[in-house]
Amino acid sequence: MRRPVIAGNWKMNPPSLDEALSLAAAIEVAAVAASDVTTVICPPTIWLAEVARVATGATALGAQTMHFEERGAFTGETSPLMLAGLASFVILGHSERRQYDGETDEGVGRKVASAVAHGLRPIAAVGERAEERRAGETEAVIDRQVRAALAGLDRIGGSGLVVAYEPVWAIGTGDAASPADAQAVASQIRAILRELDADAADEVPIQYGGSVTDANALEFFGQPDIDGALVGGASLKPETFGAILRAGQAAIGGDGA
Ligand code: PGA
Repeated sequence: MRRPVIAGNWKMNPPSLDEALSLAAAIEVAAVAASDVTTVICPPTIWLAEVARVATGATALGAQTMHFEERGAFTGETSPLMLAGLASFVILGHSERRQYDGETDEGVGRKVASAVAHGLRPIAAVGERAEERRAGETEAVIDRQVRAALAGLDRIGGSGLVVAYEPVWAIGTGDAASPADAQAVASQIRAILRELDADAADEVPIQYGGSVTDANALEFFGQPDIDGALVGGASLKPETFGAILRAGQAAIGGDGA
């Protein structure tokens, strides 16, 4: 089994730096006990540097987005040069950015390539909306989004790529995909990766995201092509997120540190 990558996407939470630091400190303790899992927290960008002082070893840091350019007239944006050395991962193409910030398939592809070029591990997020699912378009949407996200990469091997499958209708709704449906899409993603880079396809962690909790995590992690989770709401509760990390540790068969 691939080493699980479990990432907490804090989104625009919590509301104060003090709360962010105590959340990070609690997760660091839980991450130490789940030593066979790659634990990632993605706080708001403005707190990355301060959270880095608390997440001191067992927890890796991720950003929630970035611009693909290194510098320039892009008001409000953060460049890969600014993240390098501070974060090791970056979520790209999250459905909330696609929905509210106009991110396009093509833009996500440029960001993924830029992240890799700057030594950041991209967590490329893909997923169909409810109406697309109802129309039977899930497979076509995933195919289009995955190929676009990877279009700028010369090779997948050694890129550090992570792919997150997040059905939009499952995010923040309490209505997670069934493990079997999530596995079917993860296996489709794995097949695309294999077609693009046969040698590297098996090294890429594929996460499931969308209403992951401590009650359903283990079932997702038990699927052959699911290697972790991208967790929103539950990543703000240290006990719950800790239990999800322990589920990852149990899935890989380790006792932890
Ligand atoms: P959720 O969010 O776990 O709250 O459903 C997942 C995500 O948006 O990454």
